[in-house]
This record gives sequence, structure tokens and C-alpha cells, in this order.
Amino acid sequence: MATRILGERVGIKPTISEGTAFAPANIALCKYWGKRDEELNLPVTSSLSISLGHLGTTTTVQPISASADEIALNGKPVAPNATFAKALSAYLDLFRPAPDFFFRVETTNSIPTAAGMASSASGFAALVLALNNLFEWELPVKHLSILARLGSGSASRSVMTGFVEWLAGAEEDGMDSYAEQISGTWPDLQLGVLKLSEKEKEISSRKAMRCTRMTSALYESWPIKVEHDMALIKEAIGAQDFELLGRTAESNALAMHATGLAAWPPVLFWLPESVATMQKIWKLRTDGLPLYFTMDAGPNVKLLFRADNLSAIQAAFPEVEVVKPFE
Ligand code: DP6
Repeated sequence: MATRILGERVGIKPTISEGTAFAPANIALCKYWGKRDEELNLPVTSSLSISLGHLGTTTTVQPISASADEIALNGKPVAPNATFAKALSAYLDLFRPAPDFFFRVETTNSIPTAAGMASSASGFAALVLALNNLFEWELPVKHLSILARLGSGSASRSVMTGFVEWLAGAEEDGMDSYAEQISGTWPDLQLGVLKLSEKEKEISSRKAMRCTRMTSALYESWPIKVEHDMALIKEAIGAQDFELLGRTAESNALAMHATGLAAWPPVLFWLPESVATMQKIWKLRTDGLPLYFTMDAGPNVKLLFRADNLSAIQAAFPEVEVVKPFE
């Protein structure tokens, strides 16, 4: 697939010494959950996210004369047999102009490590953008999105800023499955990240999606739910209707987690702290605070609120990490 996009650029070595790029992390308001093609990361449904402004990954790639890639993360070398290095090198295989061509990759995350947000989306997006600069491919953003998707599905949404829709597409080769920016900003929309656990995930989103799609009786209702929620979220963005956005995003996340519960073996990412946090949010909302949440494939909770409620949110959750996506 990379070959199809690169066309006559395949096999051509770079003439400059390095390429650098930044890509923002993103949080899905309508989730990507389930693949119709596991190799190409083609999703069953479309999804929609907000990019997190200046929080993300900056990556520099350089050609090196060596017998393997050299990878550094946040200033520290990563062992070649570490999962992170293996995933990166396997992905770089798609782009080597010759089998003995290796890269030095320096990648730095500006996402506060305490925030516990997945960095694979911004990581693969920053890597593709850096390669585009190094090789001077000058690819259109649609093609960059497709290439980022081959690394991790959610990375397709991290090659652009603001609200982003990843179109599911229908073609077998995935050439119509890429992200597009949705026009409009929302300056007073804020996010809060509550890191509830340091523990490594017990199951990757990749495996959890597979198990859910194959075994959960509830999965057949997921595409219907997504179609409905996508329309509501777009309406909310257009009308800057915070309640509609919050309610739809929260309901979408809960529905995603519900499909996992009905899978076998069951997929449950929540810890007791996650449930207690959800209950606290529902109580605060009943008491009049416009506050909603979303959750990805892990135990941490992400809050959605408006700037004018920031101090109330900080009072209720002193440990909250605040993210201002449109600042
Ligand atoms: C729950 O993009 O990490 O965060 O394509 O297998 O790399 P792979 O999965 P990944 O899955 C993200 C799942 C999610 C929802 C979302 O971000 O839309």
C-alpha cells in the first residue's frame, strides 16, 4: 500500500540529512472500534476526534550508516528488541529505499507522561510527516493520513489539527479510508485527563477490538450507534452545543465499553477507580455542573467541560491535567 502511494518515489534515497515534524495526540469523541482489515487498519466505521493542540510527538529521522535502526525516545536510547523499537522498525520497512538502509529516529512526547494518553497516534503521525520531509515526497495530507493509518488506526487522525473525521471508506485497498479536518474551532472547549492507574494495559486495543468484533453479540449494534452519534457530534460542533457534544461523546464511549463486556473472553478496561470517577461525574452533573467524560481502551477518564467551569472541575478533581485543544 505504501508503494502504491509513493509511486515513482519508491527506492529513491533522500538527498537531505534529516526530516523533523510534530503531530498532535487526539482523543476520539466517536470511537474507532473494530477493523474490517487488520493488516491495513481499515475500520468498520468512521470516527471523529479532537487533536490536542501542542500536545503530541516531535520526531526527527536521519539516514545512518549502520546495520540496524537506532531509536531514541524522550532522549533515551531504546533497545532494538523492545516492543516500541520493533514496531517502529517494522513500520519503517515500508519506506526503506534499500534493504540495508537504516534510520536514526529521535522521538519526543510533549504529552505529560502523567496524563497517560496513548502516544501511538501522534507517534506514527509524526514519523510519517518526518519521513515526508526527509524524502521530500510532498505527499497530499490524505496520503499522509493513509500512511499513518498503516502504523496505527488512530494515527490517521493525528496528521491534522482541530476536529477530525476519519472516513471508514469501503474499498478493499483502503485508498478511501483517510482523515479529513472538519471546519470550525471551539475555543472554550477543554479536556481534563485523570490518570487513575500506572499499570500497563492488560490487553491492547488491537486485541480487544478483534475479540469484541468476533465474539460480542452487541457488536452488531455498534455501526448503527456510530452512524447516529457521528451525525449528532457534527451537529454539536456546528452549533457549538456543548451539552449535545458531551452527552453524545460519553454515550459513545460507554457503548464501546459495553460491546467489550459482552465479548468472550470479556473485555473490561475499567478499574474500581474508573467506576467511582464516572459516578462522581454523574453526581456533579445532577448537581448542575456541565461535565461529561470519555474513555479509551484503558482505565483512565478524560473529562469534557467548558473553560468557564475550569475552577469547579479543578476543585472536584485536584489531580486533573487540563488540555486546551484550541489554544
Ligand atoms: C479506543 O488506533 O490504538 O482509542 O489501529 O490497532 O493501532 P490500532 O488501534 P488504536 O485504537 C484506538 C482505539 C480507541 C478509540 C479511538 O481512538 O478512536
